[in-house]
Amino acid sequence: MGRRYEVGVIAGDGIGPEVAEAAIPLIEKAAVAAGAEIAWTRYPWGCDYYHEHGRMMPADALDRLAPLDAIFFGAVGRPDVPDHVSVWELILPIRQAFSQYVNLRPMRLLPGVSTPLAGRGAADLDMVCVRENGEGEYSGLGARYDQGTPEESAEQIGRFTRRGIERVVRYAFSLAASRPRRLLASATKSNALQHSMVLWDEVVREVAADFPEVEWRPYHVDALAARMVTHPDTLDVIVASNLFGDILTDLGAAITGSLGLAPGANLNPDRTHPSMFEPIHGSAPDIAGRGVANPIGAIQAGALMLRELGLPSAHDALQNAVEQVLTEGTVRTPDLGGVAGTSEMAEAVAEAM
Ligand code: NAI
Ligand code: MG
Repeated sequence: MGRRYEVGVIAGDGIGPEVAEAAIPLIEKAAVAAGAEIAWTRYPWGCDYYHEHGRMMPADALDRLAPLDAIFFGAVGRPDVPDHVSVWELILPIRQAFSQYVNLRPMRLLPGVSTPLAGRGAADLDMVCVRENGEGEYSGLGARYDQGTPEESAEQIGRFTRRGIERVVRYAFSLAASRPRRLLASATKSNALQHSMVLWDEVVREVAADFPEVEWRPYHVDALAARMVTHPDTLDVIVASNLFGDILTDLGAAITGSLGLAPGANLNPDRTHPSMFEPIHGSAPDIAGRGVANPIGAIQAGALMLRELGLPSAHDALQNAVEQVLTEGTVRTPDLGGVAGTSEMAEAVAEAM
C-alpha cells in the first residue's frame, strides 16, 4: 500500500469549481496508478461564503489547512465582491501564512498549441518564472488619505527584505542550475526604484556567486517584457518580484497559447506548511457557468502537485496525457479555437492516460 495524501480543495468561484472538479479525477487516477492514494477535503470558501458570513473563509481556516499535505485551488472573485477583498482575504493570507514564498509558473509552448508570436514554435518558448510570493509590492502596506477631498492621495508601500529576496533568488538559481540551458534572468527596475530594486540587484549578485555554472543577467522589467515577445528563445528561468512576476506570467501565458493552459505552484520549499497549486487564471466571470472553461491549467497544476508530493511518475503520466491531447488537437476548448467543453477536454486527457 502506497502513501496516502491529504489534499484540501478550495474550488472558489466562477470557473474555479468547473476546472478544479474536472481536474481532480485525473489527478486521482494518476496518483492511484503510481500506487498512492489521495483523500480530498473540500472547503466551500469564496464569494458565496462571503455573502453568508461576511468573510471569505472562517476564522480558523488556516488551522484547518495547516495539517494538509497540499492545497488544490481553483480561482476566486466575482463582480459582486470587491477584488481586493476576495484576493486579500483568501489567497494572500494562505500564501503568506504558509510561507509559500515561491510562485513557480512554467511558461512553455506545448506541442500542438499555437502562439500569437509569428514564426515561433515549441522549441522557442520554454521559460519558467520564479515569482516572489510573500512580500514586495504586495506587502499590503500603505494608506489612503483625505478621502473624497481634492487633496486625496494614496500610498502603496513595497517592502522588500534581504531574507525574502535571498530565499526566492536562491531557489531560482538552483532551478536554473538543474535545467539544460542554465540561464537566469533577473527582473529589476533599479533605474527608477532606487531603494527596493537596488537591494534586489545586490542580493541577486551575491547569490549568483554561489552558482558559477549559471549564466545570469539583470534586465529592466519593461525591456524583459519586450524580450519575452521578441527573443523568447533567449530566456530560461526568470526571477521576479511579486508584482513584476504577476504581470510577466500573464504575458507568458498569452504567448504560450492561452491563460487557460497555464499552471502555478505556490511553494513552501522548506516544507514547514502545505504548498498550494492552482491554474494562474482567475474566475473568468465572462464564461462562468457555461462549461467551456479550459481545464488544462488546473490539470497541469495538479501535475505539479503530484511532483511536489514526491510522485514523479504520476506527474509524468498526467503531463504526457495533456501533451498528447494537445498534439492530436481534435478536442479543444474555445480559447484554443475549438468547440469542446470542459468535461470533454478532461475526458480526452483521461483516455490518453
Ligand atoms: P481571468 O483570468 O478570470 O480572465 C481573463 C480572460 O481569460 C477572460 O476573458 C477569461 O474568459 C479568460 N480565461 C481565463 N481562464 C480561462 C480558462 N480556463 N479557459 C478559457 N478562458 C479563460 O482574469 P480577470 O477577468 O482579470 O479576473 C476575473 C476575476 O478573477 C476577478 O475577480 C479577479 O480578481 C479574479 N482573479 C483571481 C485569481 C485567483 O483566484 N488566483 C487570479 C486572477 C484573477
Ligand atoms: Mg495575475
